[in-house]
Amino acid sequence: MVEKTVAVLPGDGIGPEIMTQGLRVLSAVAEKYGHEFKYHPALVGGVAYERGGHPLPEKTIKTCRDSDAIYFGAVGGPKWANLPAELTPEKGALLPLRKIFDLYANLRPAVIFGPLADAASLRQDRLTRGLDILIIRELTGGIYFGNGKLSSPILLDSEYNAKGENTADVMVYSEPEIRRIAEVACNAAMKRNRKLTSVDKANVLDSSKLWRKIVSEYVERRYPEVDLNHLYVDNAAMQIATNPGQFDVIVTGNMFGDILSDLASAITGSIGMLPSASLNESGFGLYEPVHGSAPDIAGKEIANPLAQILSGAMMLRHSFNLEEEAKDIERAVENVLDEGYRTRDLGGGTKFPFASTSEMGRRVVDNIRN
Ligand code: IPM
Ligand code: MG
Repeated sequence: MVEKTVAVLPGDGIGPEIMTQGLRVLSAVAEKYGHEFKYHPALVGGVAYERGGHPLPEKTIKTCRDSDAIYFGAVGGPKWANLPAELTPEKGALLPLRKIFDLYANLRPAVIFGPLADAASLRQDRLTRGLDILIIRELTGGIYFGNGKLSSPILLDSEYNAKGENTADVMVYSEPEIRRIAEVACNAAMKRNRKLTSVDKANVLDSSKLWRKIVSEYVERRYPEVDLNHLYVDNAAMQIATNPGQFDVIVTGNMFGDILSDLASAITGSIGMLPSASLNESGFGLYEPVHGSAPDIAGKEIANPLAQILSGAMMLRHSFNLEEEAKDIERAVENVLDEGYRTRDLGGGTKFPFASTSEMGRRVVDNIRN
């Protein structure tokens, strides 16, 4: 029996409705295995801004600090997109949360659940080897956090650029930052098929040249048994879209990982299927779906709660060391899909019986109980 405290941050848009299902599933697991999970709700994102003027209230940070893990829904929406950057849900809450807790290792497994093979965006003959890629995205560095300063003489001196407004984002990577994500990637590869692909843009970017050098050195020195290759990000996108079966673990920087993980999710059938874990060095983590807050479908009971539910499974696995329980959730999700129930993004209501957000959650819960 374990006792854990979870900071619950539903956020905006579909966040609250999928979170409800995620918590239902966690509670069913707790009941079945005799664990106790205490949920501490906290405001984040646009809703926090509306209530108290800031998307990441101090109180929310404290709730997270006092918990064993953070269970996160989604943030953002058109309503807050034009606020000053530090007050937007993305730059004012989600990115600072990642930074405050040093959640540098973002694990994004892209797996096709057997019953969803028909929903995948690729032709079956391109998926003969299935799809089981683990994308490891560096999450607290790179262009997301390199404060922009327009100092390049090329830009400043060009008459053309001087004509209008200009600004910059700087892609910064340091040796220790690259090394620690390489370590996470090697550890993951060792538990899988020992194949690691590092993605960069070393033919153009200095930060990528350093990335490639450090990753190569690290693997050679510490994990010579890992089979490492390097791809430029444009080529990696093409390879993922045409022959995803060649990949095992992919390690890449913050922005490339953001883009490639959406691409990989489309191949699995829907971005509504992809969970993620963002971890720091001590194993503390934030668990959230890869998708966003989807304000256009919020409140309609049609959002797919599975990425949220599967993020809960990742929380059990990575922060609470409850592997069997995590697998139980994943198995239950697979069974429910196998029974044919689908939310709208997966063809529910057209090719398959339609399941609402809460029906999907309920079916996963029933499956765990039985
Ligand atoms: C993600 C999201 C975020 C990111 C946004 C919401 C800031 O797209 O987690 O992939 O770019 O990291
Ligand atoms: Mg993204």
